[in-house]
Amino acid sequence: MDMRQRIGALAGEMLQKAFPEAQGLPEDLAALLEVPPEKSMGDYAFPCFKLSKALRMGPPMIAKKLAESADKPEIARVECVGGYLNFFFNRENFARELLNAIMAAPEKWGASQDGNGKTAVVEYSSINIAKRFHLGHLSTTVIGNSLKRIYDFQGWKTVSINYLGDWGTQFGKMIAAYKRWGDKAQVEAGGVDEMTKLYVRFNDEARENPALEDEGRAWFKKIEDGDEEALSIFRWFKDVTLRDAMKVYDVLGVRFDSYDGESVMAKKTDRVVRELEEKGLLKDSDGARIVDLEPYDMPPYLILKSDGATLYATRDIAAAIYRKETYHFDRSLYIVAYQQDLHFKQLFKVLELMGYDWADQCQHVAFGMVSYEGQAMATRTGHVVLLDELLTRAQERALAIINEKSPGLENKEEVARQVGVGAVVYATLQNNRIKDIDFWWDRALNFDGETGPYVQYTFARCCSVLRKAPEIAAAPDYAALTDDEAQALLRLLSRFPEAVAEACLRNEPSIVTRATTEIAKAYNKYYYEHRILDDDPAATAARLQLTDACRQTIKTGLYLIGLDAPERM
Ligand code: ARG
Repeated sequence: MDMRQRIGALAGEMLQKAFPEAQGLPEDLAALLEVPPEKSMGDYAFPCFKLSKALRMGPPMIAKKLAESADKPEIARVECVGGYLNFFFNRENFARELLNAIMAAPEKWGASQDGNGKTAVVEYSSINIAKRFHLGHLSTTVIGNSLKRIYDFQGWKTVSINYLGDWGTQFGKMIAAYKRWGDKAQVEAGGVDEMTKLYVRFNDEARENPALEDEGRAWFKKIEDGDEEALSIFRWFKDVTLRDAMKVYDVLGVRFDSYDGESVMAKKTDRVVRELEEKGLLKDSDGARIVDLEPYDMPPYLILKSDGATLYATRDIAAAIYRKETYHFDRSLYIVAYQQDLHFKQLFKVLELMGYDWADQCQHVAFGMVSYEGQAMATRTGHVVLLDELLTRAQERALAIINEKSPGLENKEEVARQVGVGAVVYATLQNNRIKDIDFWWDRALNFDGETGPYVQYTFARCCSVLRKAPEIAAAPDYAALTDDEAQALLRLLSRFPEAVAEACLRNEPSIVTRATTEIAKAYNKYYYEHRILDDDPAATAARLQLTDACRQTIKTGLYLIGLDAPERM
């Protein structure tokens, strides 16, 4: 039911009929179709200017000849205006065919098989051990979760990876601090905050007592060498951090297939260094080993420090190769803030220089900064907004609104979670990911604006209309759906599959957010201007089917951006 394709095919038939001898005409007529700026100019306009040369005829004359050969009024009628041929859908048939196509497999509307047989690795969230989960990790987590769902829906096999930041000399320092001043029960209870305190104290005291640094280094060495005690403390730090993160993931409905982080890749860097060496890519630079990227206008990529230690970059090369060899991906996505733009450009270039022809399957999916009610999330005054606090507050606020608007609702707490979290996630995925986000409560939780709660509320409204509907035996009369509001809604529903495909192609969940929001807005407009349940059962049946198609498509759209869809609000 792709109307663009159908009108394109129709234009092709007309062209064939009007100019059977013509040569050298464009192949893909559907791609030439334009959406006219005004409804009075039709649903699609076909510009005849591009045919002028091949047909040796002025565009208005071409349009006129094409119009004369039109003979499919059941699809669309045509009008020529200047050099354009305007197509007007046959409204009744459009409604019938589209709704039948959607209702044939409602939960699959917008799905495709584009990705069949292909694998996408999606890396997101990638939190750091012994650090708090702050607002900066919100975007990567929700963009990645949404992209995973979108890729799945487009037929890809996906592998989601939380690439833990769990390697570095700081962990040696943390163990040293724990051994000196730490308390097991306190760390268990205080979690990451307690670990941070230990780390801060270590750095403070090391300024007075530099011998501490050696102690830290020694413990890190023990981690590297696989010392029992060091490893068990290190693993425990990890468990405590992940335990807290899991709470956030549970609230968001986020899951990962793998938690293989930097510590796993640190074991695989020997091979990387050897390979770089063999391929003649390593150079000395003040004792350190680098890949020179000057010919590509980039700073050098640092592979080994002068003490022989590997770096973030080295581990990322190992991780890329590991992912290719383990998952045989066709696309490998890194959902990471744009600050790491250069790092990924360098990484992909080095993979290419190493001769990996799959380097161009790796993509950095960058996103902008998040601030909170006008304040950067970590200012010099130490104002840090933590994700778990934000989500808790969102649920409390949503609960307060529900208590005010629908005090009798069952399951209030659960709905408050869905709505509060939905507001936060929606706000994150509302605009192009590269744009900076400023999060404001009043904006995110406004039930009337373009927000998560507004779209969820529209879904609940569709559910409520369908709950109240009587059993109808009559077949739907699609002539009841030829008004402008129904048609606007149908057009949006018909374009939903294109939106999902484009979101997948451009790794841009906001395209789905927008398409879903537009459907919700159009449904509400329809709902206010038309009676859905009226005396004519066949007309009622058609309007209920339209409502059902909206309900399903909105639910799919919400799911794809990571929101739940409560049936009552
Ligand atoms: N853990 C890092 C951070 O929080 C992000 C890791 C990004 N992924 C990667 N493959 N380098 O900043």
